[in-house]
Amino acid sequence: MKLKSLLLGFFAAGVTTLLSTAAIAQAPIVIKFSHVVATDTPKGKAAERFKELAEKGTKGRVKVEIYPNSTLYKDKEELEALQLGAVQMLAPSLAKFGPLGVKEFEVFDLPYIFPGKDVLYRVTEGPIGKSLLGKLDSKGIVGLSFWDNGFKVMSSNKPMHLPTDLKGQKLRIQSSKVLDAQMRALGANPQVLAFSEVYQALQTGVVDGTENPPSNLYTQKMFEVQKHVTLTQHGYLGYAVIVNKKFWDGLPADIRAELENAMKQATKYANAIAQQENDNALEAVKKSGKSTVYTLTDAEKAEWRKALLPVQKEMEARIGKDLIGSVNKEAAALGYK
Ligand code: LMR
Repeated sequence: MKLKSLLLGFFAAGVTTLLSTAAIAQAPIVIKFSHVVATDTPKGKAAERFKELAEKGTKGRVKVEIYPNSTLYKDKEELEALQLGAVQMLAPSLAKFGPLGVKEFEVFDLPYIFPGKDVLYRVTEGPIGKSLLGKLDSKGIVGLSFWDNGFKVMSSNKPMHLPTDLKGQKLRIQSSKVLDAQMRALGANPQVLAFSEVYQALQTGVVDGTENPPSNLYTQKMFEVQKHVTLTQHGYLGYAVIVNKKFWDGLPADIRAELENAMKQATKYANAIAQQENDNALEAVKKSGKSTVYTLTDAEKAEWRKALLPVQKEMEARIGKDLIGSVNKEAAALGYK
């Protein structure tokens, strides 16, 4: 009898161990992907696409949990959380890497640095992009990819035709020294604010205006609290998709390969939808009748360029003359003068 219950005990313990081993073996690897924009944006949609592809490609061995709209972390916090390993994946805008100590990313913020999206893609998909992503390694971060969003528009409660129209206004910027210099070149007072705080800051008059691609202006409802939008397209906003290096390097090689593949496809998707998403958002802003959307004349465009181009020279020492030169070379290779 004693032996029987002992054997039963062993059996039960064995089954429990087997069950828990199986549970552990089946527990998916979780990737927490935090971001600050709405789901209905180029970044939000690309993150969803990545989740879909990653979970399918790894046959459920990886689970991607997306936290949009700053539900988990705001701009600065999310980068800290990634480095600490509290989240595994982010896609911050390129303007947010300066405070991390990789100020070369601010090259993307320079006014008029990309005469067209073709130049941007040569940079992000080519050796310049690769070398920029490589700079994140020493920060405990692996840079996986660049995702497009779009060229920025200006918004304010006053009409903006000439760059001087923004003189003296308080304008929200992302945490980039180039954007700070850009707003100062307009005679405005730049203020760094987290993305999640912009709507309220505009609504309450903490700041007078801001800049963003139409998709963000629309999905964050900023257009409801800004009387005027001008299609300046003076600068660019896009993203780098990044992961915690320790997490990434610790993944089984076959899983990592699947995730790389999913990222490649999600990137293609992001870049394919970005322009259309922004065009649709701009149409929706126009239709709302809440903001007046102004298109600059050629003469006015020339004035904006005249006011903002000197920022490229001014920021040479910070970003690197060679880096700026190599971007300009890509533009020249595509026939831009
Ligand atoms: C912003 O802070 O304005 C943008 O970086 C938000 C985003 O991620 O597109």
